[in-house]
Amino acid sequence: MQNKWWHGKVAYQIYPKSFCDSNGDGVGDLQGIISKLDYLKALGIDILWLSPIYPSPFVDQGYDISNYVDIDPSFGTLQDFDELLAKAKERGIDIVMDLVVNHCSSEHEWFKKACADLNSEEAGYFYFIKGKDGKVPNNLRSYFGGSVWTKIPGHENEDIYYSHYFAKEQPDLNWYNPKLREQVFKLVNFWIDRGVKGFRVDAILSIVKDLSFPDLPADDTDGMCHAAKMNARNLGDIGKFLNELKAKTFTPADSFTVGEVLTVTPDSVKEFAGPDGYFSTLFDLSCRELVESHPHYRMFPTVTPDDFVKCVFDTQDLYQKVDAFVAPIIENHDEPRGVSYYLPEYLQNEHGAKTIATVLMFLRGIPFIYQGQEIGMTNTKFESIDEFNDLYAKDEYRDMIEHGFTEEQAVACCARHGRDNARTPMLWDDSPNAGFTTGKPWLRVHQDYKTLNVKSQFGVPGSTFSYYQDLIKLRKAPEYAQTMTYGTFARVNIGSGVQAYTRTALDQSQKILVIANTNQEELRYSLGDLKTANTKVLISANDAKLDADGTVVLGCGGAIVLAL
Ligand code: NOJ
Repeated sequence: MQNKWWHGKVAYQIYPKSFCDSNGDGVGDLQGIISKLDYLKALGIDILWLSPIYPSPFVDQGYDISNYVDIDPSFGTLQDFDELLAKAKERGIDIVMDLVVNHCSSEHEWFKKACADLNSEEAGYFYFIKGKDGKVPNNLRSYFGGSVWTKIPGHENEDIYYSHYFAKEQPDLNWYNPKLREQVFKLVNFWIDRGVKGFRVDAILSIVKDLSFPDLPADDTDGMCHAAKMNARNLGDIGKFLNELKAKTFTPADSFTVGEVLTVTPDSVKEFAGPDGYFSTLFDLSCRELVESHPHYRMFPTVTPDDFVKCVFDTQDLYQKVDAFVAPIIENHDEPRGVSYYLPEYLQNEHGAKTIATVLMFLRGIPFIYQGQEIGMTNTKFESIDEFNDLYAKDEYRDMIEHGFTEEQAVACCARHGRDNARTPMLWDDSPNAGFTTGKPWLRVHQDYKTLNVKSQFGVPGSTFSYYQDLIKLRKAPEYAQTMTYGTFARVNIGSGVQAYTRTALDQSQKILVIANTNQEELRYSLGDLKTANTKVLISANDAKLDADGTVVLGCGGAIVLAL
């Protein structure tokens, strides 16, 4: 594998609206992020991905962009952004922007011009499609509920619709139009020229459409089919579009890019993230897929630690086989907190946070940490639907009530699966609003902020934060860096509830063993012949230890990393 500047790095995702508010308006901002750069540096991260900070009506929290080449005033200005870039760089941190170009906002001037004149150039940037038999063009259901088709504003009496795989305020951009593609390349280069080192590429499979707009077999009683199934069916021209994007933007700038791609296959992994892939890497979203392959929250299965680890390890095998780099994650802004979602109740705490962190941090690929994960944030106790902000959760709540669930059941289900779990404010200290803002936070604060916060953990040996620092340090330690970055991955089957794997240096000179126990019962595992005179513990959590006779002893949540 050819060495790349981003190999061996650790990345961190910031959800700007909820990270740190510098001006008391209840919304995080760029100056807030700047004020926390030393904190991020101390954690040990190298790459910072910012969820969208562009001007937006925030129907989908910034994933509905109304101007691609500016900063939303609630976050600051382009000058603030330049300051962030420069100050991050001083600390050895590179900034990665969110690239949301499957759709824009219905408030973007392109869409406004398009609706005002259906023969304008901008009209060609969207899918304006005639209905079929007096109905919408096909039966796809959008990600946030309802049809992907809506009548064009100002043309409600005509039989013509625009496509939106997400909210109706997020009209899909027509990548089959070369003029639209040129617009996209231009905006990407705008940020590259400013100093951005890469992009996280949103919902990118959705840019391919079957232009005959067929119906798909219904997946629920509403007669509709989830739009994601259309993407899974056929990737059509995606190679043409993404190779062009890469050649005209990422390649000349040597950008680091990470794609949001669900439903991968060995072929698509190679195509997307192999040595000549469209992107540097893809997120491991396999656990999400396990859940989201079901159309509604009410159908989402519970993911056990074994399901979780199977997804993660299958992904490792898949990427390794095609020489591709994956970006392992535990959570992001679209998911509940990993500790609450993937672990049994008795580990939904600081112990579990360390257990799962140990499994994540030594996988092959470039790990991404999501804000708050490093202090072990768990799900927030939402008690009423009014406490949610996310349009997705609100639609699922409506769906559950319509299907006869009680209000209490619907709220509990949204609280379990909802994206707002990850979006509640970052917990900095035990002062009102957890030190996130001096104003009224835009989303409620986590119930445990008095005890669960950065201040109570920073510099405190044994805290989750300190443990994350140590994990990152170990991952990047010069004597292990080659193995951690390029070494082969192999799973070790010890038993249900136990997550174990090795990483072996390509020249076989070094082997690392990672074991974590999510069972309540103690695990005693004899290393047998694997133990050598040089075997040593590199890091451990929750009292895990290696006995002199070569037995690894892991209590509930115990996790250990050994050099064999
Ligand atoms: C994926 C993003 O992560 C999510 O937050 C957003 O709602 C959709 N794409 C649409 O942009």
